[in-house]
Amino acid sequence: MTRPASPPPGLADEATLDQVGREGLVAVPGAPTPAHDGSGRVQLSFTVTDGQDRAVRVPPGVTVFDSASWNGIAIDSTCGGHGTCHKCKVRLDVPTPVSRHDRRTFSEGELAQGWRLACLATATQDLAVEVPPLTTRPKAATVGVGRQVILRPAVQKRYVELTEPTLADQRTDLQRLSDAVDDLELRVPLAVLRLLPGVLRDADWKVTAVVVDDELVDVEPGDTTATRYAVAYDLGTTTVVATLLDLGTGTPVAVASRLNKQQPFGGDVITRISATMMDPDALARLQSLAGETLDELAQQVCAEGGVDPTQVYEVAIAGNATMTALALGIDPEPLGVAPFVMSSAHPPVVAAAELGLSLHPRARAVVFPSLGAYVGGDIVAGILATGMDRDKRTRLFIDVGTNCEIVLSDGETVVSTAAPAGPAFEGGAIRCGMRAADGAIEVVRIEADAGTVELGVIGDVEARGLCGSGLVDAVAELVKVGLLDGSGRLVTDEAAAAISPALAQRMEKVGEERVFVLHRPTPESPTAECVYLSQRDVRELQFAKGAIATGWTLLLEELGLTHDDVQQVLLAGSFGSYLSPASAVRIGLVPTLPVLRIVSAGNVAGEGAKMALLSHRERAGAEALLEQVAYVELSDRSDFNDRFIEQLAFPGAQGG
Ligand code: FES
Repeated sequence: MTRPASPPPGLADEATLDQVGREGLVAVPGAPTPAHDGSGRVQLSFTVTDGQDRAVRVPPGVTVFDSASWNGIAIDSTCGGHGTCHKCKVRLDVPTPVSRHDRRTFSEGELAQGWRLACLATATQDLAVEVPPLTTRPKAATVGVGRQVILRPAVQKRYVELTEPTLADQRTDLQRLSDAVDDLELRVPLAVLRLLPGVLRDADWKVTAVVVDDELVDVEPGDTTATRYAVAYDLGTTTVVATLLDLGTGTPVAVASRLNKQQPFGGDVITRISATMMDPDALARLQSLAGETLDELAQQVCAEGGVDPTQVYEVAIAGNATMTALALGIDPEPLGVAPFVMSSAHPPVVAAAELGLSLHPRARAVVFPSLGAYVGGDIVAGILATGMDRDKRTRLFIDVGTNCEIVLSDGETVVSTAAPAGPAFEGGAIRCGMRAADGAIEVVRIEADAGTVELGVIGDVEARGLCGSGLVDAVAELVKVGLLDGSGRLVTDEAAAAISPALAQRMEKVGEERVFVLHRPTPESPTAECVYLSQRDVRELQFAKGAIATGWTLLLEELGLTHDDVQQVLLAGSFGSYLSPASAVRIGLVPTLPVLRIVSAGNVAGEGAKMALLSHRERAGAEALLEQVAYVELSDRSDFNDRFIEQLAFPGAQGG
């Protein structure tokens, strides 16, 4: 369960290949043998001019540039680490191989002193890195959970004023343009070549080249460098959220959400997978509904932001493995049956138009990779947004939902798993359960001494039901006052009366079942619905939280840790963000920690998608996570049932 010692693909592999294959590296005589400590990581100690010297640890093989970039340390660059701008100069204390670009950039004396281009220097052992003052201060944006991302979008715009061809200068139109942006090696699709002659001449040779990675996707008349946008999606099974991003500033321009239009095919991934198994037309329909959902949101955020949709050049989509497969039109059936295999962990980059999006005609869609059938791209995006893989602390990430994803990092190793929590947290299988919408009780406070029950209701309207956070609160509060015992049983009427006569009056029977009434008609609101928590509801919650607690307990054991080692819990997802940390601790949904160390991480999937758009290095980091994060399968563990039963009790019960 340790990280592989090899460098993450897409980063170090790319650099190594680039250097050895294309650069013709020259080994430095006497260079020390690559070495790093037993943790499988190397340490880079950066000396930076703002005085905030930093030491970071990365897998061996990562470039110095990426190591800095991943950790929010700015190094000069205009090419974004492609090895072409020759600006990322750093001085290393240990000589590394010299590339052709190094030779072009530095004198022999400087090379001997350890000067190298950071994006071509690979860290294979501990290094001290001196970073000169920045000549162009890179812009940065704060996204995710306190992550500082240096803006290096894959989408670049370059305004150029070209000289007209003459008989003495018969360079082609494309050569003329390429010469003006010679730090980029352009790939040019036929569609752009077709429009190039007309645009150049109509625009009097003053144009803006739009480049995504290395592809010239458009040539626009005049200077359009101030307008480049992208849309980040959190593609949820229930709700889809879109954020329009200004790639020049890194700021969100507009945000919108709507229900996933696939809802009529079922509320969860299993029912949607089943639909495709029973109806041969369902997959095409589900794909088209995903596209409609994404496009309606794109048009909405563009309208709200006053942005022409054709100025959106890229989108990033973070969804679970099933939502990803359906959006791409890939048969999801293998995800729903053992052994739960994905068609591919790395979806290809596709044209946004292929997904049904009406944006720039050559806009791209970047779809997050998945760790497994039940730890999908939304969780990879969440790990990116929270920096779980880069933090020294022992942190536990829990995305609470029907399928609950759990990630644990001890600062060196990251492990993940999925726990089937069932529908209780979404109000399913709960007598008075409902989704988190107007009328749902989301907060419950019970005071035994005063005999009071206070409710927080979404929309400040009459209570109609109980959503997930209200369910957790109600159970936790009943545990707190002693009306629920540690095993999850409502106490007897006599015991309830001894605790609080007023609260005891709320213990009723509905049919044969004992319930605790949270809300009922009053003379002031005689038509109000009766909302209660039943004994069976408590059991449903116990099963759900038992599955989750078993998941993180086994992950802790996997890394040789105990509850006491956990320094922070991040609660993610729409449900996790609204959960009361105190209640989560009281029912044992999370390890027993001071509540300040239990943090609502919010919509981390959407934040990860934003990061991938703002920095192509972060995007590469997401790909690298597939090699770094180990997946632990719980279902085949022989001790799972015993461990699950151990986790059913409520640790915060009186005398418990
Ligand atoms: Fe441009 Fe290294 S970042 S050459």
